[in-house]
Amino acid sequence: MRNGINLDPITWPRLRFERRVDKDFSMNDADAPQVRQGSIVEHVRRLLEGADGVCRQRALPFVTLTYAQSIDGCIARFEGETLQLSNPLAHKLTHQVRALHDAILVGINTVLSDDPRLTVRLVKGKNPQPVVVDSRLRFPLQAMLLKEASVRPMIIAGDGACAKKERRLVDAGAQVIRVATHVDDGLVDLAAGLRRLKQLGLRSIMIEGGARIITSVLTCDLADQLLLTVSPRFVGGLRAVNVPDEFATDRFPRLHNLHYQWLAADLILRGDLASSGIAGRAELIASHAADRSPGQGDSRSSEGVDR
Ligand SMILES: NC(=O)c1ccc[n+]([C@@H]2O[C@H](COP(=O)([O-])OP(=O)(O)OC[C@H]3O[C@@H](n4cnc5c(N)ncnc54)[C@H](OP(=O)(O)O)[C@@H]3O)[C@@H](O)[C@H]2O)c1
Repeated sequence: MRNGINLDPITWPRLRFERRVDKDFSMNDADAPQVRQGSIVEHVRRLLEGADGVCRQRALPFVTLTYAQSIDGCIARFEGETLQLSNPLAHKLTHQVRALHDAILVGINTVLSDDPRLTVRLVKGKNPQPVVVDSRLRFPLQAMLLKEASVRPMIIAGDGACAKKERRLVDAGAQVIRVATHVDDGLVDLAAGLRRLKQLGLRSIMIEGGARIITSVLTCDLADQLLLTVSPRFVGGLRAVNVPDEFATDRFPRLHNLHYQWLAADLILRGDLASSGIAGRAELIASHAADRSPGQGDSRSSEGVDR
């Protein structure tokens, strides 16, 4: 309590979303035709089928950026805290989408704070390859990813990271990939890391956070689609996207071809991400998917497979 105001976000009231939004999704008329309701998982499945062909012709894998945020754009209360934001249905959807990707990538701080397994547990499906971006090899030897993983984790490290720590991690079961780091901040060159993953046969990557990774992916324009869970609560904490003051926000990629789905009170949003330089990529992939699976699934159907 400060000045009689309750500062603990956990006790703040939760929003109740109005669920009858089919007719008006609060978009303007120009955007409205692009917004569709339907099974997000089915749409992602079809998109990935199409992406497989398109990505064969480029150096980068297909990248899905996904995370859960509060209504005020936060993914945790503070750095290093684990906060379960999505409800069980949305959580299950995340696992369905994980099973559709070749790999799942997080930043090292997420490993240090959440100790995740990054597996498919809530549905039947193949475990994706876990990948951690970790310039300085801070990866803990006792991490769940080393103890429990059915697939050996890959760690993308900077080319100057400690060789002794690399040997210990490799002995414990990890694979370490070295890539160049940025001169200014010493962080891994994410684009170079993603290219390496593609060379290793990983054609679709689901990037799950945390905030610094989300910000890098968006500012470097490395994602093809965004899959966002919006939980109807306020957190007042660590924002998903943090850019320096000098970053011009019009440099962010734009969202196109939006789909939404309600899973209980959580809103799931999916959209293609395209900057002006690569506009048309999403449409190309979508048309490729339609060619490959004519008549399969209707993204406008309100009956989702995961409802
Ligand atoms: N709600 C959700 O969906 C969700 C999902 C995931 C995580 N989280 C939460 O997010 C928080 C962690 O987020 P975070 O922002 O602190 O850390 P993070 O994004 O998980 O990891 C960031 C770290 O990765 C390393 N890194 C290397 N190259 C990078 C690059 N090019 N760009 C960005 N990072 C790079 C850096 O550490 P080095 O310099 O040591 O390499 C950097 O500090 C936790 O509280 C976690 O619970 C929430």
